[in-house]
Amino acid sequence: CGIVGYIGERQAQQILTNGLQKLEYRGYDSAGVAIFNGEKMEICKSKGRLAVLEERLVQSPIRGSLGIGHTRWATHGRPSDENSHPHTDESGKFSVVHNGIIENYLEIKQELLDHGVTFTSETDTEVIAHLIAVLYEGDLVAAVRNAVLRMRGAYALGVVCEYEPDKMVAVRLASPLIIGVGKGENFIGSDISAVLEHTRDIVILEDGEMAVLKKDSVSLMKVETSEPLQRELFRVDWNVEQTEKDGFEHFMLKEIYEQPNAFRNTLLNRIDEDGKQIVLKDFPLRPEQINRFEKIFIVACGTAYHAGLIGKNVIEELARIPVEVDVASEFRYRRPIISEKTLVIVVSQSGETADTLAALRESQRLGAKVLAITNVQGSSIAREADYVLATFAGPEIAVASTKAYTSQVIVFYLLGLYLAQVKETLAETERECLIANLRQLPEQAEKALQHADDIRVYAESIKNHASLFFIGRGIDYAVALEGSLKLKEISYLHSEAYAAGELKHGTLALIEEGTPVIALVTQKELEEKMVSNITEVKARGGNVLAITLEGNVELHRNVDEVCFVPATLPVFTPILTVIPLQLISYYTSLALGNDVDKPRNLAKSVTVE
Ligand code: G6P
Repeated sequence: CGIVGYIGERQAQQILTNGLQKLEYRGYDSAGVAIFNGEKMEICKSKGRLAVLEERLVQSPIRGSLGIGHTRWATHGRPSDENSHPHTDESGKFSVVHNGIIENYLEIKQELLDHGVTFTSETDTEVIAHLIAVLYEGDLVAAVRNAVLRMRGAYALGVVCEYEPDKMVAVRLASPLIIGVGKGENFIGSDISAVLEHTRDIVILEDGEMAVLKKDSVSLMKVETSEPLQRELFRVDWNVEQTEKDGFEHFMLKEIYEQPNAFRNTLLNRIDEDGKQIVLKDFPLRPEQINRFEKIFIVACGTAYHAGLIGKNVIEELARIPVEVDVASEFRYRRPIISEKTLVIVVSQSGETADTLAALRESQRLGAKVLAITNVQGSSIAREADYVLATFAGPEIAVASTKAYTSQVIVFYLLGLYLAQVKETLAETERECLIANLRQLPEQAEKALQHADDIRVYAESIKNHASLFFIGRGIDYAVALEGSLKLKEISYLHSEAYAAGELKHGTLALIEEGTPVIALVTQKELEEKMVSNITEVKARGGNVLAITLEGNVELHRNVDEVCFVPATLPVFTPILTVIPLQLISYYTSLALGNDVDKPRNLAKSVTVE
């Protein structure tokens, strides 16, 4: 979910809805605002996209300069008008927006029911509004604090009340929340983009802290002790234009086309001038410290997990250190074998994914050092990790990740080469050759983007199929997984990725006349085996599109269609082959008339476990 809040002199309505537009990537099942109109809190909320709420507000605007807003990704309670935020107590005097999950809400709800309180929604958030109202004794800050002390779970909260319209209270525990500091006005937001239009001066709230915002002041304190806190302002160095569509029809397409530049920025200053060495200033470990790592874990969710699978291949291949890759939500609960001799790498575009953050904390608790690969400076994961290697992909807005994923892969190339350099697992000439090829990837990605028109035609041909398959071997299999996920996310077609050699052990049974199969064929030493698997598919009627490297014309004889990407070294192919796969999912989603940037049921940043 996304939350936003405003206190100042200007009209809050537009500021809140603009902020919510920027946060819609965090959830779009419903949206709402509560604004103090000079007499009372007026609420407008509705199921569906933000546009529905905006329409209602155009019909009947709310005037006032204090307000909170919310865009929801449903957890407790289905998307409906009643379950939309803000929630209020019975008197309607207290309004709350919340991102997170209150784990003990049923227990608190029962107490409130016993107290005679009537509930109107199924959400855990409504419990907070009633609890604050019950605890209120003329001091909003104290009531919020006492309520929070009763709550377990994860929350970012924005609270306002009619009795004290000169303030807004914000609290954070394990869900992100920032404060935008303006002149004569202040803001809260789930992320910086929500307030960037108005200010670049940000205060990042930490876990267990609360803030009281007035129009001319922001004061922070620890929830536990009420002790006041000082915090330096964080000045943002990116701008609003970077979060606009720039003439592209969708953010996703824009972000796909931004990849060459994202690679350049991520590589910048990380290779020495003569192209002989990798320089990772942000990972300042001495060789003896690096040599102590006996094992690496890579932990992440979704697309970032798929970047981790490439990372495993790269690190094992180049630096010969054993690597395990885990989905973050599984990692924590399987008692991983970790010690001071383990390096844990967490990968997260947003730096806020709850499962990944929990994995980071668990790893540190077990004594491991944690290196984060993330796209958001100042995010929770960036702040808590021991080391951070940033991806410089710029803000990614589309829910389906593209440029963040490939930039994560670029960081894994840099890291793999760096570890190899320290551990001396590669001959110097070999390393220099790899670095030279790495530097070519931005231009090669530009070339890979030139096939968009052919891919659009291909997308038309697959859009009505019930099921699709992606196959590959080795590093190509990791790319197949990402291609399949991308397609599922935004086209809603069923698709599966399979290690090509494993097809015959089950999935082959699903291949029928005309079933589309996308085969990744980039690894010379595995090519013959891939061709055998493709032949097995074709013998059952499958229609095969192969993605391969330029020059591999032979392959045409064995498949129905071929899409070429520029030739590079085996380890670097994923970053180029994934580009046609991203375009396939984009154009399929477009052909089906789906909302490409905001696929149903998903959200970009998932801050609940
Ligand atoms: C959500 C998004 C995915 C993303 C995953 C991990 O599920 O929809 O696109 O890959 O979270 O996000 P992160 O920000 O940690 O990379």
